[in-house]
Amino acid sequence: MLTRLLPALLPSSLPSLRRPGLVVVVTGASSGIGEATALRAASESHHLVLVARRREVLEEVAERCWQAGAASVTVEAADVGDDDAIAGVVERTVAQHGRLDAVLHCAGIVTYGRTEDVSADDFASVISTNLLGTATVARHVVPVLRRQEKGALVIVGSLLGHIAIPEMTPYVVSKWGVRALARQLQVENVDKPNVHISHVSPGSVDTPIYDNALDDAGGVNQPPPPTISPERVARIVLDCVGPRIPGTGGDVQTSLSNYGIMAAYTFAPWAYDRLVGPVFDAVSRRRGKED
Ligand SMILES: NC(=O)c1ccc[n+]([C@@H]2O[C@H](COP(=O)([O-])OP(=O)(O)OC[C@H]3O[C@@H](n4cnc5c(N)ncnc54)[C@H](OP(=O)(O)O)[C@@H]3O)[C@@H](O)[C@H]2O)c1
Repeated sequence: MLTRLLPALLPSSLPSLRRPGLVVVVTGASSGIGEATALRAASESHHLVLVARRREVLEEVAERCWQAGAASVTVEAADVGDDDAIAGVVERTVAQHGRLDAVLHCAGIVTYGRTEDVSADDFASVISTNLLGTATVARHVVPVLRRQEKGALVIVGSLLGHIAIPEMTPYVVSKWGVRALARQLQVENVDKPNVHISHVSPGSVDTPIYDNALDDAGGVNQPPPPTISPERVARIVLDCVGPRIPGTGGDVQTSLSNYGIMAAYTFAPWAYDRLVGPVFDAVSRRRGKED
């Protein structure tokens, strides 16, 4: 049990145990956690394939990855909800490098608003990107890892895949689904001991996801405290790629505070259900868009 706390305790500056030159695909690489993960992988001299929808932003991140020491950088503008596009990314990566060592899946979006107020389109977008996008990535990556008999798929879920929170229903539903999907993949691949499927659950991370939120309630959002940096999550994501420090990989929380919030949700539901809304409103949301 104690080793499960290790990822949340280890300093971000810990040197890597990984050899350089791994072939690493990062989704959501144009911003936030994915961008920080790409830059950290670059600093370890890996071959990078950067995936997100906005090509021009990816090109800027790619330039910084070269400067940080990447062995190579390829930009792939693709939507994780597009099965053919993701199939193409995986095929081209294997064709170019001859193998695929790790896929670090960070792409995701969020929406706010009471369940009945979220438009059908926004609800579908969140499920399509977060849950179906993860399934699409797994559909094309897992067969390659199984054929190679080794490799890592690291899925960035969320603390909100373990708890409920008002006015974030599509996101919470998608992240509970992502956690279930990760467990399914772990069970289905238990016969391949060197194929590692990990699920990382960040709490609050200071990234542009809050500014980019599809907000059907017209609110302005900010990361609720306690907040950690995307660089810290990037270290934890990469630590799921072998050789691994004991306790890393599998199902990982990024902060000790996640355990406290999950304990309140599980063991004190009466108090949790009444307090979570007002507390979240006070620390994370303001009504009415700012000019
Ligand atoms: N920030 C937090 O507090 C927090 C907490 C827990 C979990 N997470 C999770 O961490 C992951 C990264 O979030 P973040 O905070 O780093 O957000 P972010 O800064 O908004 O970055 C999201 C990334 O996902 C990409 N993306 C979005 N939709 C996509 C699609 N359909 N296809 C391909 N790429 C897509 C975006 O690029 P394009 O727009 O260019 O496509 C961007 O690169 C998400 O899964 C999020 O749910 C975040």
